[in-house]
This record gives sequence, C-alpha cells and structure tokens, in this order.
Amino acid sequence: MEFFELHSQCKAYREEIAEALGRVLDHTQFILGEEVALLESVLAEFLGVKHAIATSNGTDSLLIALLALGIGRGDEVITVPFTWISPVSMICSVGAYPVFVDIDPKTYCIDSSLIEEKITSRTKAIMPVSLFGQMPNFTEINALANKYNLAVIEDGAQSFGSEQKGVKSGGASLIGSTSFFPSKPLGCYGDGGALFTCDDQLAEKCKMLRNHGKGGDQLHHMRGINGRMDTLQAAILLAKFPFFLEEIKMRQRVAKRYSEHLPHPPFIEEGNTHIFAQYTIRVDNRDEVAAHLARQKIPTRVYYPHCAYEHPGYAFLQQGCFPESEKATRQVLSLPFHPWLEERDQIRVIEALQCVSV
Ligand SMILES: Cc1ncc(COP(=O)(O)O)c(C=O)c1O
Repeated sequence: MEFFELHSQCKAYREEIAEALGRVLDHTQFILGEEVALLESVLAEFLGVKHAIATSNGTDSLLIALLALGIGRGDEVITVPFTWISPVSMICSVGAYPVFVDIDPKTYCIDSSLIEEKITSRTKAIMPVSLFGQMPNFTEINALANKYNLAVIEDGAQSFGSEQKGVKSGGASLIGSTSFFPSKPLGCYGDGGALFTCDDQLAEKCKMLRNHGKGGDQLHHMRGINGRMDTLQAAILLAKFPFFLEEIKMRQRVAKRYSEHLPHPPFIEEGNTHIFAQYTIRVDNRDEVAAHLARQKIPTRVYYPHCAYEHPGYAFLQQGCFPESEKATRQVLSLPFHPWLEERDQIRVIEALQCVSV
C-alpha cells in the first residue's frame, strides 16, 4: 500500500490527457497558450469569482498576492505557525513580518477568536491557511479585516474544492490562492497554482506581476516575477477538471469509512465541507502507532512535525506561546489516503489501528 499514488489517476484519464497534450504540441504556444486563458475561465466559473489567474505554483501565487497588495518592509501579516512553510516564507520574502496566531485544535486552522489581539498599526493582511482540506471561519476573519481595513489572502493550497456556507475555497476573501502540485486535490503533473479575486484592479496587477510586471504596452510597470503557468500544465488541468467533483466524492467516501471506525477522526466544522487533502488523526503515542503501522507495511506521514519558527531558517521569528500548534506537531499522523485507495487497504489500515491503543 502506498501513502499516496497517482498511477490510478493517470491510468483513468490517460486518453483525455494525451489528447490535451497533443493539442498543445500541435500549436506549440507553450507559454501562456490558449489553454491557460481557458483554464482561468473554467476555474473562475467554478469558484463563482470574477478572475482566476493561473500561476507557476502555490508559493509564487502567495508571493504575487502579497506584491499586488503592496505589502513589504515593515508590514505585518497575520498567519499560523502550524502550516507548510510557504505562507511564512513568502511573507518574509517581501520583507514583511509573519505574526503568528495559534490554531483551533479541532480544525487545525487559524483560531479566529485570537486574531484581534495581534492586530497592530503595522498589520496589513491576514493570511489564513485552509489546512488539510477545510476552511477557517471566514465570516469572522472577513469581519475583522473590514473593521481594521486589512486584506485577506486565503492560502487554499490544500482546500481547492471545499466550501464554507456554500462559498468555495479561494472565493471567500479579497484574494485566494491555491496549488496544483500533483498530490493536491486538483493536481497537475508538475508545478502549478492559481489566484482568485473579484477585484478588477488586483487581478490586473496579479496578471502583470506573474509576467515580470509587464503590461500590454511592453513596459514593466512593476517589479514582478516569472510566475506563469505553462500551457502543458493548463491542458492537463483542463483534461482532468471534468472528473474533479467525482474525485472529491471518492475522497469523501474513503474518509467516511476511516472516520466511522477510527478514534479521533478529523472534525468537520458546521457549515464546512472537507475535501481531505490529507486524512489526519491525533494520537498521543505517535511514534508507537507509526511504528506499529510500519511493521504492517502501512506508511504514514507527519504534516507537520515543526512549527514554522522551529525551523533553523526561521529562528529569527518570535518563539512563542502557541500551545495548540505545538501540541499538533507532536500528535498529528496522516494515514494512507487518495481517491483510489482500495477498500481492502482501507480495512487493513482500520484493523491495524484497532490493534494498537491510541
Ligand atoms: C498550505 C500550503 N501552502 C502553499 C503551498 C505551496 O504550493 P506549491 O508547492 O505549489 O508551491 C503548499 C504546498 O504544499 C501548501 O500545502
């Protein structure tokens, strides 16, 4: 059994993908070809937003969003310490300072009740991470942002396709970002990402910034980056997109079976849908449980074993009092999970876990 695999997916859509790649090989517009614009319109319609901007990956997306909002040296951006490093690294990359807020232990997302006390005159934005496949409380986050005139940039790299009160991840705030890394809920077969917004000016800036800050007049109006999605990845995403909702259902079916039989299953906040980018449980005796599963050839992973400020490269950030984030780093354990995980493998995982006290 593999923790995650893409062979089944590649096999299932091989014909559609081969055709889509063939069309790009025929027209040879490998950079910003017509598939990129088509993908952007498909994604914008799916999310119900005015603009989607396809990018090189989910990290560059965050960088582009920060640059488009003019966030830089001396500014503060509120985010979480329990996350993949990208939001923290990109806030630092523009010269701003990540101000951490602890997570809600049930959802692993930012605890919105703790945000207000961290807002200062230097705060410019909130960058919540929709971790593992569900969104934090955007009603409260957006209300605070309105009150203090802050931008909200959702890092929805792990939550594309999930919803909160009928609003899709990526479309719940001023600007949303996602990643199409191959193992993400909607993945391409290389690197890819996207930004989403209803704000015309912001969208225009993001489009320029992803292409070296260049406008239609051939002038570089901003100091941008090469953050373009390549056409082959856009073609792959377009070919895969018609199957995406079915894949979410397949994920949710695997998760349901796990959750019915396992202790401490992921909590789903009322009003949220969860698309299970990861299936993560909490255990006090993680090493013992992981070793027990490994002996039965059941792979597990830990997302994430360290808070952002515990990494040597980020030691300059405040160390702190983030008890729920730190507890999560000691307890979380992600189980083998993907839409095609076979029933017999799901049962093996469940039975193996039932034989160890957690
Ligand atoms: C929460 C989060 N943010 C950002 C990213 C960055 O995405 P990418 O790998 O496409 O740069 C990831 C990818 O793992 C992620 O999980």
